[in-house]
Amino acid sequence: MTGLSNPTLVLNDGNSIPTVGLGVWQTPAEQTRQAVEAALSTGYRHIDTAAAYQNETQVGEALKAAADNGVAREDVFLVTKLWNAEHGYDKALKAFDASAKRLDVDYVDLYLIHWPMPEVNLFVETFKALAALRDEGRVRSIGVSNFAPEHLRTLVDGTGVVPAVNQIELHPRFPQQELREVHAELGIATEAWSPLGQGALLSDPTVVAVAEAHGKTPAQVLIRWHLQLGNIVIPKSVNPDRIASNFDVFDFELTAQDIESIATLDDGTRLGPDPRTFNWTG
Ligand code: A2P
Repeated sequence: MTGLSNPTLVLNDGNSIPTVGLGVWQTPAEQTRQAVEAALSTGYRHIDTAAAYQNETQVGEALKAAADNGVAREDVFLVTKLWNAEHGYDKALKAFDASAKRLDVDYVDLYLIHWPMPEVNLFVETFKALAALRDEGRVRSIGVSNFAPEHLRTLVDGTGVVPAVNQIELHPRFPQQELREVHAELGIATEAWSPLGQGALLSDPTVVAVAEAHGKTPAQVLIRWHLQLGNIVIPKSVNPDRIASNFDVFDFELTAQDIESIATLDDGTRLGPDPRTFNWTG
């Protein structure tokens, strides 16, 4: 434990989420347990997985090991996501059961629809199932991932429920200004995936210059940039030293000028699929 303290953000349902979490997308199953244990012993209290990442079992094992070392289950904000092949009311309920079983938990803190799947067009029904899970207490908060503004509006109109978060690709090359404005209007928290641009932004000269000026690493600068924008951020690493340093971001601030210079990196580069056309169920 480093004693670092991670601020939380209050969601629209009153629950609090630690603003920095460990993401385990692209973390191989065999490295997941050690990465999550390293994060929890560093002080992280937010872990972000998904059925699709095929490492929920190992996340669950790490949570159990941490519980034996004094980090109780209820101290950790655990996020998982419903995969694309599981849209539909009944399928969603079953998919949640399967995730909870793999994670070996009684409840999940936040359950997200992973992608809107516009061609399948069942995300409204699917979200009603998530609302039922929340009403049962099996899920504390419900949200979505990769939803575009029109998907969010259809969802809210169709269910009367505003998702607590929308987890989206977001980094300085793709800062999602329009979507962040829609989130602010609707009261949805913005969660950033690939916050470091999948590592590609770490050698960017602008980021490196800001890092040098602060005596920090490029990753710390990027994580700070997210926090100062108001984002929840889930950097991925399998390396214990990088996991620790990515969490050591609560003792400095970027200046307005730093943020402006990082804003010049916006060139509209999307690293992942476009949710408006992504309908993959594989
Ligand atoms: P590794 O897991 O070997 O540390 P993103 O969260 O944007 O997807 O970025 C994840 C990528 O960035 C991974 O390749 C990860 O590699 C790398 N990464 C994460 N943190 C750091 C860091 N502090 N320094 C260098 N590379 C990092």
